[in-house]
Amino acid sequence: MARLDPHSYTDSDQARTESLEWSARVDFDSRVLHAQAILNLRDPAGGILDLDTRDLEIEDVSDQGGRPVSFALEAPERILGSRLRLQLPEKTQSIRIRYRTSPSASALQWLDAEQTFGKAEPFLFSQCQAIHARSLIPLQDTPRVRIRYRAEFTVPARLRGLMAGRFLSRHENGTVAVERYEGPEPIPPYLFALAVGKLSSRDLGPRSRVWAEAAIVESAAWEFARVEETMRAAEVLFGPYLWERFDILTMPLSFPYGGMENPRLTFITPTVLAGDRSLVNVVAHELAHSWTGNLVSNASAEHFWLNEGFTVYAERRILEVLEGEEMAALHAAVGRRSLDDALERFASRPELTRLRTQLQGVDPDEAFSVVPYEKGYLFLRAIEESVGRSAFDAFLRKYLTQFRFQSITTEEFVRALEEHLPQVRSSLNVGEWLTGTGVPANAPVPRSGRVEAIAAVGQSCPSPAAAKSWTPSEWQLYLESLHRPASLELSEQLDSTFHLGQSKNYEVLISWLVVAAHAKYSPAFRDIERVLGEVGRMKYLRPLYTALSKSSQTRGLSEACYARYRGIYHPIARQVVETILRASPAT
Ligand code: BES
Ligand code: ZN
Repeated sequence: MARLDPHSYTDSDQARTESLEWSARVDFDSRVLHAQAILNLRDPAGGILDLDTRDLEIEDVSDQGGRPVSFALEAPERILGSRLRLQLPEKTQSIRIRYRTSPSASALQWLDAEQTFGKAEPFLFSQCQAIHARSLIPLQDTPRVRIRYRAEFTVPARLRGLMAGRFLSRHENGTVAVERYEGPEPIPPYLFALAVGKLSSRDLGPRSRVWAEAAIVESAAWEFARVEETMRAAEVLFGPYLWERFDILTMPLSFPYGGMENPRLTFITPTVLAGDRSLVNVVAHELAHSWTGNLVSNASAEHFWLNEGFTVYAERRILEVLEGEEMAALHAAVGRRSLDDALERFASRPELTRLRTQLQGVDPDEAFSVVPYEKGYLFLRAIEESVGRSAFDAFLRKYLTQFRFQSITTEEFVRALEEHLPQVRSSLNVGEWLTGTGVPANAPVPRSGRVEAIAAVGQSCPSPAAAKSWTPSEWQLYLESLHRPASLELSEQLDSTFHLGQSKNYEVLISWLVVAAHAKYSPAFRDIERVLGEVGRMKYLRPLYTALSKSSQTRGLSEACYARYRGIYHPIARQVVETILRASPAT
């Protein structure tokens, strides 16, 4: 037996899936997908085949000739779910599994109409990264096993069903519509994605459109109008875009992430609709995954930094082209602040501050933090600084070409680095960066005039004259740099002078509310409650619930909010909040 991935039952000695034919009926009443998956094997095989599942009800398994295949669904393991063990007859070419998903499938969020912008129709979306695809489809749920797919699914005809693939057709038949898609490139299962809702679209450019509910589609089209320009900038840096289209789906507010790089259809939180395009770096980030992540993918969650570190690096290079060096430096400085917070949070689990992690027995959702993002970014910056930008850019191109449509480990990255940039060996301690905890003392420091100017304000209240010209990123950097807790006096001053609780920029708003929560500045509690009741993005829930639950004075508020709003949060977000609330207050 050879396991490829600590988070999958996939055994590399067994048959390997080459492609998937998936069909499903979406039932909003019972919150169930009635589905069938045909797994086509790379080579005809017999004997045992282990698949990953979570909360699936397996109805029937047969081979290409319709002959029954015997199977055993094992008891669930906390992190991995249930192994589905098949006994394949000799020369099995493909397996057909008929099954149902559970209403609590971890990959799915079923929203009532009230949780949508339109308030009239329900909504369904999937979120498979890192290991939730198995709650949607029985398969070899590891990025190592990349698959092509064809899919067709039935939705109520008044709704639209979208998938992260190439659109084939939609046929309406009375009250239902059949949507057909294909994924022509081999992708890791975590990139499988669908959404169903009352959706409309606007074209943004020759190869992009935005999908959203009617109530927000115009503002989304305005916010994302520069997407073609962003794609061109990325292509100059990283090579041709290989996925034909880059469409965007603007999600309901409960979407637990800022964005998800589902191929051909990036999912984006509506919290980026600030009305001034100040948060479109999230789009640049998800677009950048088209190279770093979707073309070259991490082999498992233990190498997650290969996805996210490279993508943050690529995101800031794109930002530098579109908005200049100062803006890229401000983002890097905010990133460094968040990295320092995460290092502090992981003081008792320093092993999770490594880039190359060991995650046997650890749930990837629990290990998630900004460390792979921001430490990974700093590592790549350090390499860039040691070899010079043009040599680093040439390396990036080679890396992306060499490993395209593959899923690789940190060790494979290191071999490529040593081959293409042998000079790095003497100038940088690569081993310390990858397997050491914390951040090396000589890590690059993002500097710029505007970053220095914010640092100079320090812990005092900025003068209105100076702050008048601050961009949201400068506000964010200032707020994130304040000691926690800040004084009540400073909180009051900030509130009465700048009214940050009314900010349309969610990053600024949340940074302010986190300062206020730590300071126990009660006039801001109403805004905190409002935000906790409208947004499900974990990046915002985590620091707010953490700040409130830290002190016995505000803990009641956090518990009351969670009791009230639990129902609107995504299953993964609930877990995060529950973990925070389990810890006892420090003061
Ligand atoms: N792929 C991630 C989101 C993700 C990570 C989902 C791990 C599930 C497990 C996505 O590309 C991402 O990093 N989103 C960020 C965007 C930000 C860095 C600009 C987010 O959600 O905030
Ligand atoms: Zn990312």
